[in-house]
Amino acid sequence: MRLSRYLAHSGVSSRRAAEELIRAGRVTVGGEVVTDPARDVDASSGVAFDGRPVAPVAEPVVIAVHKPRGVVSTARDTHGRPTVVGMVRSRRRLYPVGRLDADTTGLILLTDDGELAHRLTHPRYGVPKTYRAVVANAPVGEAALERLRRGLVLDDGPTQPAEVRRLAPDTVELTIREGRKRQVRRMLDAVGHPVRRLTRVRFGPLRLDLPEGAHRTLTAREVEALRAQPAPPRRPPSRRRRRRSSGS
Ligand code: URA
Repeated sequence: MRLSRYLAHSGVSSRRAAEELIRAGRVTVGGEVVTDPARDVDASSGVAFDGRPVAPVAEPVVIAVHKPRGVVSTARDTHGRPTVVGMVRSRRRLYPVGRLDADTTGLILLTDDGELAHRLTHPRYGVPKTYRAVVANAPVGEAALERLRRGLVLDDGPTQPAEVRRLAPDTVELTIREGRKRQVRRMLDAVGHPVRRLTRVRFGPLRLDLPEGAHRTLTAREVEALRAQPAPPRRPPSRRRRRRSSGS
């Protein structure tokens, strides 16, 4: 595997940061400084970072949790509240992929794979997340659904269009590709239907299939499906880059 990837798998840093470390001459292979991030290495190559041998950690793990109400989705809580990480007994250093509010229930992932977590939460990837909301002031009318579908303006800016369907007079299901703070609650507030109960029922290709409070390790196929989330569209070249490449 490429040296930069090997370092990332060893928990030294992200792959991109590893490339910098390699170029800076801080990595040796068999005692020789190597500055090429693409050098092919394996566990027998004798890779060291700042003089200390490094080895890839075991295959990363991804765990699905059905978070109950009152549990916070940080690794630790300064107020001593229960955490999603505390719900799972593991020797791994797991951390939550994104956040759910303490009063939201539903699907949240834990992993020790930093690259995957980044990919699943970075807004550029726009991973779809589906929420089921029981709301006040039922029935939810067509006008409110339409506003949610078109996108509306919150105090931190406009939302992207959401996929929305009404499941019952007081229950809607919303799919969004953003992850702003309390976004679904604020969107529903904005259309006059404050949330009474909120549950995340889907995250990317995964559907919530666990009873509240339960967790399970994802299969290799499910992890593959998560990794296969479409890459973000390429940004058009900046004006400066366009000028440079056209030679003017
Ligand atoms: N949107 C919210 O308002 N709360 C959550 O927990 C997740 C999305």
